[in-house]
Amino acid sequence: MSIIEKLGLAALHRMDPERAHDLSIRALQTGLVPPAGAPVTSPRLQTRLAGLDLPNPIGLAAGYDKNGKVIAPLMKSGFGFVEIGAATPRPQPGNPKPRLFRLSQDKAIINRFGFNNEGADAVVGRMQARPRGIPVGLNLGANKDSQDRADDYAQVLAAAADTADFVTVNVSSPNTEKLRDLQGADALSALLRHVIGTRDATNAALPVFLKIAPDLSDAEIAQIAGVALDCGVNAIIATNTTLSRDGLTSADAGQAGGLSGQPLFERSTRVLARLWQETEGKVPLIGVGGISSPEDVWQKLRAGATAVQVYSALVYQGMSLAPRLAQALDQRLMAEGMTLEQLTGSGAADWA
Ligand code: FNR
Repeated sequence: MSIIEKLGLAALHRMDPERAHDLSIRALQTGLVPPAGAPVTSPRLQTRLAGLDLPNPIGLAAGYDKNGKVIAPLMKSGFGFVEIGAATPRPQPGNPKPRLFRLSQDKAIINRFGFNNEGADAVVGRMQARPRGIPVGLNLGANKDSQDRADDYAQVLAAAADTADFVTVNVSSPNTEKLRDLQGADALSALLRHVIGTRDATNAALPVFLKIAPDLSDAEIAQIAGVALDCGVNAIIATNTTLSRDGLTSADAGQAGGLSGQPLFERSTRVLARLWQETEGKVPLIGVGGISSPEDVWQKLRAGATAVQVYSALVYQGMSLAPRLAQALDQRLMAEGMTLEQLTGSGAADWA
């Protein structure tokens, strides 16, 4: 991390977390924080994820750029792919503030945003205007007051079908009441069939990913894996934020919402490894949750991930994180004489 980045982060950390987040978006928008440049890549780092060509397997997780305001600079920040959103069919304000908390001692975040966003039309309009480059996907959400949540996902997919490189069915946010109930076998199957039916009718080549929660029993993970395979989901993202508060020491540990960052690492990696064992490589997995170092990336890949995503660690380490993680991965693959393909799942048994 450069001295400028350290000073910038220190200043942001003295502010209210949501204000700091908005300011970081402004800084990217205005070019105050120049992006790292082209993604770090090499023949070792290049990979294919659900038919998408990635220059490296380090992605940006959903929730940082909910409205797609800084897609172009994010595409040049060293990531191999970027996910924006969540977008819901209609704009909605989300939960009352404060709704974002920095747990600095724990290197964690709690958020209860509740899908605040400007709505699918605005977000998709910005996606359409993006430059060419790395794959950019859209995280699909449902409006809080929706009468038919399954149809909300299908509506946002239809709006984005011509421009998104992938879409993610996010049934794992803890901040919209009863959303996680959509992870139950029957509800999930009906939802995925509707969404994938809409995909087939609009743009059959669009990969549909499913993002799951970390707070699932082994039986639930097995059930979800079965439904995802049956319905033909193109990748599974494990995981979203957790409701667990184990082992936290920060003052805000008791805030309601989803916890992300370092304390989520083990829990989400275990879910990933269980999923790998259940799916036996039949569907690619994306590992997300608590990644903050090159070793964490390595472990997610060993546990079964084809690619990974990060968010909370950017708050503590800044935007130079993605190129640093990609470079370190490249060096370790070279040192160990391994390919990404060989690494994926090679340590699932240690984690499951
Ligand atoms: C998120 N995350 C998230 N996920 C999602 O699928 N849709 C969303 O809209 C959001 N929004 C969101 C906002 C904030 C402030 C945070 C911190 C997180 C979850 C995110 O994509 C990721 O799954 C988790 O944060 C775990 O990864 P990290 O943060 O531990 O690297």
